[in-house]
Order: sequence, then structure tokens, then C-alpha cells
Amino acid sequence: TLHNIKGCSFKYFSTEMDSIKLGKKSAAYIAVDENIQDNQVIGIGSGSTIVYAAERIAQKVKEEKLKLVCIPTSFQARQLILDNGLTLSDLERNPELDVALDGADEVDSRFNLIKGGGGCLTQEKIVASCSKKFIVIADFRKDSQVLGEHYTRGIPIEVIPMAYKPIMRKIKTLYGGSLELRMARAKAGPLITDNGNFIIDWKFESGDHDWKKVNTELLMIPGIVETGLFINMANKAYFGMQDGTIKVRE
Ligand code: 5RP
Repeated sequence: TLHNIKGCSFKYFSTEMDSIKLGKKSAAYIAVDENIQDNQVIGIGSGSTIVYAAERIAQKVKEEKLKLVCIPTSFQARQLILDNGLTLSDLERNPELDVALDGADEVDSRFNLIKGGGGCLTQEKIVASCSKKFIVIADFRKDSQVLGEHYTRGIPIEVIPMAYKPIMRKIKTLYGGSLELRMARAKAGPLITDNGNFIIDWKFESGDHDWKKVNTELLMIPGIVETGLFINMANKAYFGMQDGTIKVRE
């Protein structure tokens, strides 16, 4: 539970924050406390949960005088690192990471993840793949038996813009389901990723999928840059529950 965490009493959380925010913050704080040590190179993921992790890392750097180097997974992550006064680096200077922390849209019972709700899946997967440990932080809603149980937007797939239509047709023919080109917030046009690409959200049909095989097959389609399926990558997941307690899976 959070009761013992300095500066973060449970009472404060329960009166000031709703249960989802409490879940996110609890998972992030505990994961940072258990996994971040001096002299590490750390991957900073994207999304709303990682905001709390960056906040906690900054507190630890200040209080414990830790020397840490942070690698961003998106423009948002880069801003988070800078805004929290952390040391920004990149994969050229630090091609090997000790720990990558990131959120997830869903985690199934076999530790398959859907990521990319924020459209940052490609850099997130690259950074996670360069890390000795990949730690997932999420609220209770992301903990599922099978993918699609709770997260209904489907699997985000980053594609080269000129290929989006044929890719949608090919996925539909291969696996069925429905596909949508993700639009920018104001619906002014397609969402453009940090890499200058489009995102397709594939709402797959429910059932027993071999996600490793599906992921490999998707990556064979010309124009698909990366998928939001993270297979055999996570080492540990921290789920923050409504009451501020933590469920850990590894
Ligand atoms: C962004 C991601 C995020 O990590 C994922 O969408 C979870 O976000 P949040 O922490 O806001 O629930 O993959 O591309």
C-alpha cells in the first residue's frame, strides 16, 4: 500500500484524487521506488501514468542525490524529462538502458500488452527493447485476462501515410474486425505521430488469438512501421487499485 511512502499519505489521495488517478499514481510511485537506483539509464514512457513516475523520479533525484540519465519515448516524454529537471539523453549516447518504465492500454494473463493509446508505440517499443528491464505501470482497468476485454479501441498500428488504405484492406482480409484511421483531436485530419506517420486502430474480433504470430505477420506487411502489440517484453507490471494498493504481476 501507499501508507509508508514519504510525502504521499493515503488520506491525501483518497480525498483529492479519483480512483483512477490514485491507481496510476500508486503504481508509478511504487514502481519507481522499487526499481530506480543510482547511476541508472532509464527509459521514460508516454501517457498519463508516466507523468507520476517522472514526478517521483525527480523527487528521488533531489532527495537522494541520484545520478540518472533519462531516454524519452516521445515528444511528450522529452518535455516531461525537461520539465522535471531530469537529465535528457538519447539512444546514440546511451544505447543500453537499465530500466524502461511505461504505461499500457491493456495487459493480458500471458503478459501480452497493447500500447499506443497515445500514438507513441514505435519509440516506446524501441526504447523498451534496449532495456535490461521493462516495467509496466498502470491502473486497475488495464489488467485483463485476454486482450480486448477492457480496452476497446483495438490495436494501434503505425503506418507510412501513403500506404494506410491498402494496409487496412489487407488486415481486414487476413483477420477481419474493423479498422479506423486515427484522427487528430480537432478532427482536422489524421493524427501524425512523432515519426511523421499515421496510426490505424484495428478493432479485432474477440477470440483466441496467437498474438505473437499475428504481430509477426503484421510486421511483414509493407508500410507497417510498428504495432502496439508488445509480446514477451515486459518483466513486471504494477497495477494500482482503486484503494491505492498495488497488484504486481511478473
Ligand atoms: C502511449 C502509450 C501509453 O503508455 C498508454 O496509452 C497508457 O496510457 P495512460 O498511462 O495514459 O493510461 O502506450 O502511446
